[in-house]
Amino acid sequence: MGKELNSEYWNNRYKEENIPWDVGSITEPLKNYFDALGTSNPKILIPGCGNAHEAQYLHNRGFTNVYVCDWAEAALEKFRSRVHGFPRERLICGDFFEIKERFDLIIEQTFFCALDPSLRKRYVVKMNSLLNYRGKLVGLLFNTQFPKSPPYGGNIEEYKKLFAPFFSIERMEPCEDSIHPRLGSELFIELVKA
Ligand SMILES: C[S@@+](CC[C@H](N)C(=O)[O-])C[C@H]1O[C@@H](n2cnc3c(N)ncnc32)[C@H](O)[C@@H]1O
Repeated sequence: MGKELNSEYWNNRYKEENIPWDVGSITEPLKNYFDALGTSNPKILIPGCGNAHEAQYLHNRGFTNVYVCDWAEAALEKFRSRVHGFPRERLICGDFFEIKERFDLIIEQTFFCALDPSLRKRYVVKMNSLLNYRGKLVGLLFNTQFPKSPPYGGNIEEYKKLFAPFFSIERMEPCEDSIHPRLGSELFIELVKA
């Protein structure tokens, strides 16, 4: 039987600081995407945020409508002690699948690949339900398989089939500015709630 990827499992990974997925800062593709948002201030959700470097970046650049969600308390505690002035009520410590609010923009970075693949359809449906009309799911998906999981990999054909019934696919293409270790194995996605 595979390991149970519950909140305790993830929380322990943060407590033990055994978090090889955490690259220690915002990644280039998301930084570039955020920089291009200009003066808009969309309501943003970052689910499975871990140390939430993206939220830190947005907060420091004056975005005031950013929410983060993770069910690993230890991760959110670290975020809180690092990022001063980030409103507590925008830290959602709980299960992503239980969130009830709506957002304009949801950011994906190594959350999808951390979920058991049996949850993929549920992830897509939930993402769709969390977005406002014409809201977007933006970020990165692995376009490769891994010898040991998590992370769980996938490929572009499979993702197109999965997302197309719920989203219009504006971009789903090899990412050219991935961080070095992920170069050639990531897709940048920009999906609009259909
Ligand atoms: C591989 S980590 C990625 C963290 C972060 N996005 C990053 O890139 O550093 C996956 C994260 O998803 C969180 N997670 C997994 N399932 C979740 C769920 N159902 N609800 C909330 N968080 C969840 C874990 O606690 C973990 O922090």
